Order: sequence, then structure tokens, then C-alpha cells
Amino acid sequence: MTFPTDRPAIWFVTGTSRGLGLHLVRQLLERGDKVAATTRSSERLLAALGDGTDTSGLLPLTVDLRDEAQVSAAVRETTGRFGCLDVVVNNAGYGFLAAVEETGDREVRDMLDVQVVGVWNVLRAALPVLREQRGGHIVNVSSVLGLTAVPGWALYCAGKFALEGLSEALAAEVADFGIGVTLVEPGYFRTDFLTRDSLALPAGTTEHYPAIREMVDSHLKLQGSQPGDPARGAAAVIDRVVAGAGPLRQLLGSDSHAYATAKVEALRANLDATADTAPATDFPTVA
Ligand SMILES: NC(=O)c1ccc[n+]([C@@H]2O[C@H](COP(=O)([O-])OP(=O)(O)OC[C@H]3O[C@@H](n4cnc5c(N)ncnc54)[C@H](OP(=O)(O)O)[C@@H]3O)[C@@H](O)[C@H]2O)c1
Repeated sequence: MTFPTDRPAIWFVTGTSRGLGLHLVRQLLERGDKVAATTRSSERLLAALGDGTDTSGLLPLTVDLRDEAQVSAAVRETTGRFGCLDVVVNNAGYGFLAAVEETGDREVRDMLDVQVVGVWNVLRAALPVLREQRGGHIVNVSSVLGLTAVPGWALYCAGKFALEGLSEALAAEVADFGIGVTLVEPGYFRTDFLTRDSLALPAGTTEHYPAIREMVDSHLKLQGSQPGDPARGAAAVIDRVVAGAGPLRQLLGSDSHAYATAKVEALRANLDATADTAPATDFPTVA
């Protein structure tokens, strides 16, 4: 995709009243770009932007991402207001910490509704626009936990692993239309992600997972000392989109890179350990 240089770029960003999404909106407006910013509360977004930000290029949209009709109306409103659409950033997401057996049906559906169904709603609405204009960029904010999974994070990882699979397939499907896809994989970033305003916990726990309870406590205490700077993270995402071509995955943070490297090494060892046995299930070749 060629990023527009002769006019302000038009962005559609989800999950914008806090954290990485808020930094993106602020920096995009400072660049002079136009931003359709979805949030569950436009009032919260406008309050967070404060008086110091020029919001003339902002279209705040209160949207429930789980609702396909609301999402497609939001994309229509964006193209109606700004004339076209260049970049879509699926950023909205939240953490959930519990053992697999402590995770309820409603909690599973809620997470996948936001992190998978919600993204799919946005893509279904935005892709026809990008395809028609034969260009655009989709940024799906995953996590290093979309590549590797750890105890207590199963539901979050299930959502982000799904997002990774969807994005990898999508990238290959839309490349010929001039549409780029980037998977952003942050490590720990100093946003609201680990606060009780964002992080969800199960309705009930059991006594069988003391290590997970300790992990939850230590993560709540981590708030404020995460290594990742969300302002730098947002700037890196914008730079990547402006640059156009680049690798599918954009790892953010030294911790993210280290975890992902360890996963690749473990996967390599697993592949090597099964290299001899995997072919045994093929039909015998007829000579
Ligand atoms: N911070 C980290 O350590 C970290 C690490 C890896 C990946 N990530 C990913 O980065 C993205 C941004 O997170 P953040 O760090 O900026 O966290 P954050 O400060 O908690 O912000 C999350 C944003 O997602 C939206 N959101 C949260 N729960 C939602 C729900 N149930 N339905 C719809 N929208 C919801 C919120 O939007 P509104 O309230 O405006 O609707 C909020 O602005 C997420 O996808 C997250 O999974 C974060």
C-alpha cells in the first residue's frame, strides 16, 4: 500500500479512550491526519484527549464492536465524513486471568466477541472499501501472547491466537488488492491494561491453582513498571504504516522479542522431535 502523502490519511481506530489507542489518536491528530475513533464512551475519549488536542480532524464514534450493524454504520459514517479510508487499526482488547477450568462460558464468549467477532465485524465492513480503492492497511493489535501461551492467560491467548490466524490468512488474501496487513505484538506496556479498570477476573476461583493467584497478584503490582512506553509504541505503529512494506509481524518491546524467540526455538525443537514420526501416517506411496 502507498501511504497518502498529498492529503491527510484517514484512519479508523478501535478502543481509543485509553492506552495505546488513545496515544494513536493523539499522535495521528498531531500529524494532521483524520481519525474515526471508536470507543464505548465518546465522552471518556474526549475527556482523555483534553483541551490541549485539536480535535477538528476527529470523528468520535460510540460503538459496540460486537454489534455488526453498529460497526458497519460506523465505517459508513467514516467514509461519508472523510471521503475514503486508508488505515484500519483493530486495537480494542482486554486481559482476563484465570485457570482454564475457572473460566466460565459467558467469559469465553465475551472475550471472543470482542477480540475475534468484533475484529471480523470491522473487517467485513472495511475490506470492501479498501478493495474497491485498491489500497489500504489493516493493523491488528495482537500480543506476544498471540504467539506463545502461559498459565492463567488461556482465554486471552485463545483470542489473540485466533487473531493471528485470521490475520495471517487475510494478509495473503488481500495482498493482490494492494492492502497491507500488520500484526502488532506488544510485550508489557504501561497502559491501563493491568489495572482493574481493564483487566477481567473470573466470577469464581478454586483452591487448586495457587500459582495462578500469585501470578495475578504480581501482575496487578506490575502496573506502573511495565517496560513498554505506549507513546513510543503508537509512534512505531504509525511509522510502520507510513513506511508501507514490511514484515507481517511487528514485535514491540524487548520482552516481546525474547518471549517470541523462545517460542520459535521450542517450536523448532518440537518439529525436530517429530520429524521422523509425522510421515508415518501418510498413505504408503505406490511404487
Ligand atoms: N498493555 C499491554 O501490556 C499489552 C500487551 C500486549 C497486547 N496488548 C493489546 O494492546 C491493545 C490495547 O491495549 P492497551 O494496552 O492500550 O490497554 P488499555 O489501556 O486497557 O486500553 C484498551 C482499549 O481497548 C478497549 N476495550 C477494552 N475492553 C473492551 C471491551 N470489553 N469491549 C470493547 N473495547 C474494549 C478500550 O476502549 P474503550 O474503553 O474506549 O471502549 C480501551 O481503550 C489490546 O488489544 C491489548 O490486548 C496490550
